[in-house]
Amino acid sequence: MTLEEIWSKERSMLIDPQKLIYAGRGSTALWAILKAHNSSSSNGKILVPANICEIVIPIIKNAGMKPVYYDVDPIQGNADINHIQDAFTGDEKILLAVHNFGTPLPIKQIAVWAKNQNVFLIEDVCNALGANYENKPLGTLGDAAIFSFGYAKIIEKKTGGALLIKNNKLKKVVNNTLTTLPIYNSQHHHFDQKFQIKLKEIRKDARKFSPKFYVPLYEEYVNHLFYQINQELITEIQQDMETLQENIDRRKQIATGYREKITNPLIQHRTPVDGEIFWRYSILAANTEMRNTLIRKLRTNNLLASTWYPPVNHLFEKKGNESDFKGAYFFSQRVINLFVDKRVNKEAIDKTIDIINNFK
Ligand SMILES: Cc1ncc(COP(=O)(O)O)c(C=O)c1O
Repeated sequence: MTLEEIWSKERSMLIDPQKLIYAGRGSTALWAILKAHNSSSSNGKILVPANICEIVIPIIKNAGMKPVYYDVDPIQGNADINHIQDAFTGDEKILLAVHNFGTPLPIKQIAVWAKNQNVFLIEDVCNALGANYENKPLGTLGDAAIFSFGYAKIIEKKTGGALLIKNNKLKKVVNNTLTTLPIYNSQHHHFDQKFQIKLKEIRKDARKFSPKFYVPLYEEYVNHLFYQINQELITEIQQDMETLQENIDRRKQIATGYREKITNPLIQHRTPVDGEIFWRYSILAANTEMRNTLIRKLRTNNLLASTWYPPVNHLFEKKGNESDFKGAYFFSQRVINLFVDKRVNKEAIDKTIDIINNFK
């Protein structure tokens, strides 16, 4: 089947919730795919962006694979085909293409490249649920895709993940793996809370931003992420998927307000991309000092803002440096993610805009 045919088969603009295979987390979904693929491959290298969610790296390693990092654009925080090609040595058999910040990657071009190189393409849609590329939902062009319904996601539950996978044989293996896992229970929750406390401690001390502290902590944590979710939670997620368009529209309305009203010339807006949705509304400060001062000001005023996603290579690789990936590093030093979800109201939005515009 040609790529054009694959596109034209998928008519709906949104993913059909009934077609998803549900898992405990996005991480669990990724792990199950990697395990299924790795068992039929002698080569365990996977291309990942340097600024990925931390948990993805220990998940990859637990699945018996080795991450090979690629850089991202300094303003968008996402990769294009050149970043991926630059990191590709010819050895990697899997590509994790992360549509981060709700912004679609040029996935058609990436899929053509992956097909030509015989690379298995996994779309990471964890932060871009509902976004599309040329009117097709993200997650439908890769060989597989992962989704998340956990903390701070477009649909946010106590936990939850899902996947799509095209090859029927692999799908069977993945399904078999997932069905052997226990159902999410209070012990998983308890362990997660204990882990979050330890992580918070480590994050207070920059001297601990190294494999010595991160690797053992996460190596233990990943073992507690291999679970399924119960039918009740799946039904809740499916119900939230039915109203996904309203969720996305509200986020867009808030993001549009930020885009139009944040006029401080020291702030750079990311370039709009067709088919995007808004996980947050991300802006870039002129420099790190300004970013850090603004974040402090916003937080002192109880306004929500984050600085995700920074490069993670140095946290998990002995020879890694934070600044090894220049685009990811530049982005992470300047980005401010403004919240667009149900946590924010008009008063908070207006105050946020006011603080940013009055910064000199
Ligand atoms: C881009 C990305 N991929 C994967 C994951 C993992 O998803 P989960 O937290 O459901 O395991 C995350 C989590 O934040 C993420 O941001």
